[in-house]
Amino acid sequence: VADSLPLTPISSGSPHHRLTKVSVIGAGKVGMAIAQTILTQNLADEIALVSAHPNKLRGEALDLPHAAAFLPRVHIVYGTDAAVTKNSDLVVITAGARQTPEETRLNLLERNVALCRNIVPPVAEHSPDALLLVVSNPVDVLTYVAWKLSGFPASRVVGSGTNLDASRFRFLIAEHLDVNAQDVQAYMIGEHGDSSVAVWSSISVGGMPAFKWLRNSHRSFDEAALDGIRHAMVGGAYEVIGLKGYTSWAIGYSVASLAASLLRDQHSVHPVSVLAAGFHDISEDHEVFLSLPALLCRRGVLGVAEMDLTEDEAAQLRSSAKTLWEKCQLLDL
Ligand code: 2OP
Repeated sequence: VADSLPLTPISSGSPHHRLTKVSVIGAGKVGMAIAQTILTQNLADEIALVSAHPNKLRGEALDLPHAAAFLPRVHIVYGTDAAVTKNSDLVVITAGARQTPEETRLNLLERNVALCRNIVPPVAEHSPDALLLVVSNPVDVLTYVAWKLSGFPASRVVGSGTNLDASRFRFLIAEHLDVNAQDVQAYMIGEHGDSSVAVWSSISVGGMPAFKWLRNSHRSFDEAALDGIRHAMVGGAYEVIGLKGYTSWAIGYSVASLAASLLRDQHSVHPVSVLAAGFHDISEDHEVFLSLPALLCRRGVLGVAEMDLTEDEAAQLRSSAKTLWEKCQLLDL
């Protein structure tokens, strides 16, 4: 037990101060990038780390508090058992195999579904009111799996989805136009992965439709530039994985932005993986999760913004939905 400072207590009002607890399952590159971004952004009072690798976990859980003098005061707990996540407000699931340079995200399915079976039920039991945020790949199918295995309402289960792809899209447009990516609005929806759908008609810069903005500045997007952006959006993650073996920093910031919107009740719109049945003519019977612009608040997903898609974009979305639904049908949940 720690010694106390010689303080004279003063009478306080309510003795209860509700602390915000975030649990991160998986202490690999992605889990730790998320944990450290959540820590530096002061989004949690307590962070619980869970991993099946006790030495790595202990190393991470000791390393982070050594930065305590430079960080907000956050209590870090850790363990190999889900019990350490008890009473979480938000549980972020990052555990699982990650793709090698030759693999697609969907290749990881079987290995990571097996992991979800071990992770989700105990986590849901320890924090029955939590929000679940799935990051492991293939994220859309695993979000569906987490929804089924948790028994939580769909509003409390989201996947990190194309929030990251949209950031890549915004970065590439911003680079091309030489503006700040935060001033670029642009959506990517659908599968987080090879069939993600870029909504070109959604691009605006400083509130002005991008193509008009270019016309006004007497410039244009030439076809080669558009092709370069298309290619870099889908190929970006593969390139990073080929070079450093995994992606981590961008997903860390992407998930921290979702954590902020959820925990701080921001009512912000993010493209994240949500139950998409019934949207954009996706069959009501197809219980499939994929990314659509969703309004996020403390209770989870408040609603989905119905985008005005071109017929081509809507068709691409339905095709992603079909692929993902077929994958989900193969799972025995
Ligand atoms: C990413 O897009 C690999 O899904 C991961 O960075």
